[in-house]
Amino acid sequence: MLNAAIIGLGWWGKILAQTLAASNKITVVKLADVDAEGGAAFAAEHGIGFTTEFAAVLADDTVDAVILATPHSLHEEQIIAAAGAGKHIFCEKPFCLNRASALRAMEAIEKAGVQIAIGHERRFEPPIMDAMALARDGKLGPLMHIEANFSHDIFAALDETNWRLKTEESPAGGLTATLIHLMDLSISLFGQPDRVLASVECHGDVVKNGDTLTAQVKFENGRTASLNAFTHTPFFSRLAIFGANGWVEVRDKAHVQAPEGWFFTTCFTDGKAETIEYEVATPVLSNLECFAGAIAGKAEYPNTPEQIVRNVSLLEAIVKSAATDTLVKVEK
Ligand SMILES: NC(=O)c1ccc[n+]([C@@H]2O[C@H](COP(=O)([O-])OP(=O)(O)OC[C@H]3O[C@@H](n4cnc5c(N)ncnc54)[C@H](O)[C@@H]3O)[C@@H](O)[C@H]2O)c1
Repeated sequence: MLNAAIIGLGWWGKILAQTLAASNKITVVKLADVDAEGGAAFAAEHGIGFTTEFAAVLADDTVDAVILATPHSLHEEQIIAAAGAGKHIFCEKPFCLNRASALRAMEAIEKAGVQIAIGHERRFEPPIMDAMALARDGKLGPLMHIEANFSHDIFAALDETNWRLKTEESPAGGLTATLIHLMDLSISLFGQPDRVLASVECHGDVVKNGDTLTAQVKFENGRTASLNAFTHTPFFSRLAIFGANGWVEVRDKAHVQAPEGWFFTTCFTDGKAETIEYEVATPVLSNLECFAGAIAGKAEYPNTPEQIVRNVSLLEAIVKSAATDTLVKVEK
């Protein structure tokens, strides 16, 4: 059993705590948030110890791992501090906000020899895993392109002072909220991104950091991805992978915070598209438990440190491209 502390008890930290209540691999032994009142109330409701001091969590020998669900700009310093204290780290996405920051954080992790995991639960969605397997096993023929969209309007209801709408915390509209998951999936299949052309616009006049983000990514192996994130339209999510001998599309019925299952469509050279449905699954829990398994030496964590840093390099290039309307090389 892994003893973990969750840092940050906002929208997602609470979901992580509730998700882990069903785990027989991870016990949440401590909760932390700078919001003393709200954090303590949630912790009391769940019968878990609470502190406002991250340092107290790091000094606690009963805590093996920290789960960071805090604002993005805090991730680097919290990762470095946690690694320094010898804690394993599950960090919510994005890992960091630029490549230099990601390299510093990863260096601290490697020096401490602790396990890193990242909140890209989409890699643990059964239909996504099956779509990726079809692509990797050659069933789609030579791979050509990924076309993906992850959109929702949850942020349109946020107060405009919320950190999630601030450019310094959440640059380029839906980049850090949803597009980052599609970038991670594309990187897992196509490898090193080479260059990107991105655009962010605000059409709805509500989500001020941009509601219409589109990015065209070219990978070093010549494969391409068209990735879209719209943050002022009702929930929509699809991932399609195209190969010379077929394509596969995964459509989510609902957002992962309250999943309802998926539609999974394949089409091969006979041109007949076939759709099946996938039952509800628990990818957030699977991701966290894979982290625990990797620490115990019983599982291999799928996101490698190299891929985690690569995704932040692509993030930085998308921010630059959207700001300048130019094609930007992805640093490596
Ligand atoms: N994997 C996913 O699908 C998914 C979904 C939603 C959010 N997230 C990620 O989760 C993280 C948190 O996002 P959120 O929407 O829950 O934000 P939020 O604003 O709802 O919650 C953030 C919490 O962190 C607390 N906090 C701020 N500074 C802190 C500090 N120094 N120490 C401890 N706590 C601190 C705040 O008081 C707040 O309660 C982000 O990285 C976000 O991208 C991931």
